[in-house]
Amino acid sequence: MKKIVVLSGAGMSQESGLRTFRDMGGLWEEYDVMDVATPEAWQRNPELVNRFYNDRRRQLVDCEPNQGHRLLADLENDFDVHIITQNVDDLHERAGSSKVLHLHGELKKVRSSVDPELIFDLDGWELKLGDTCPKGSQLRPHIVWFGEAVPAMDEAAEIASTADIFVVIGTSLNVYPAAGLVHYTASNCPVFVIDPERPPLSMRGVTFIEEKAGAGMLRLKELLGSL
Ligand code: APR
Repeated sequence: MKKIVVLSGAGMSQESGLRTFRDMGGLWEEYDVMDVATPEAWQRNPELVNRFYNDRRRQLVDCEPNQGHRLLADLENDFDVHIITQNVDDLHERAGSSKVLHLHGELKKVRSSVDPELIFDLDGWELKLGDTCPKGSQLRPHIVWFGEAVPAMDEAAEIASTADIFVVIGTSLNVYPAAGLVHYTASNCPVFVIDPERPPLSMRGVTFIEEKAGAGMLRLKELLGSL
């Protein structure tokens, strides 16, 4: 089976009703990223940071995977599909994708603020200030904040470097190191980009599909059939 590696971003979940970050009406228009998505913000104003992620988690409860997520899951019938996602939602998993690597953490998990190995599933949507890990420290969102290392990056680079086909869906490619993953692919690896707005990507062998994730995945299926 050929190996398809997918890098997904917030646009993947837009048709499920989740807001992207940098589009018009995106989350970073309403919030200053430095106030809600950095370790310094968590030190300074944990109430605000915690509320931001509780809101994200509560919204996720009412969302369902969209056609794009489902078509990606279906691709597993014909390909060895590996998804590397910048998204912190669980919509790829809920659509049935079996190999999903989260680069930027997972909304439905929380972890100890003194021991990053202590990670827990959160029951429901609400993390409360005062909820502690077994070592007695405050639990924090299991999110990779700006300025923090991306622990899954080595594994992601390894996966990308062995792709037969690489697909980028719904990311503005603004945030590194994730945005650089496509450059780990072999020189003969075809790259497809699904996004209504072409992200800046100048390299050989890129096919742009200027559609939303759902329609773009339908088009990708046709194109894969003719590879
Ligand atoms: N289908 C596909 N793509 C879409 C759709 C859609 N329905 N709607 C919007 N897009 C595209 C936009 O054109 C844009 O290129 O999705 C992209 C969203 O870009 P960003 O908002 O920058 O999101 P992303 O690239 O995932 O952000 C990366 O930044 O703030 C951090 O940690 C956060 O993981 C996130 C990272």
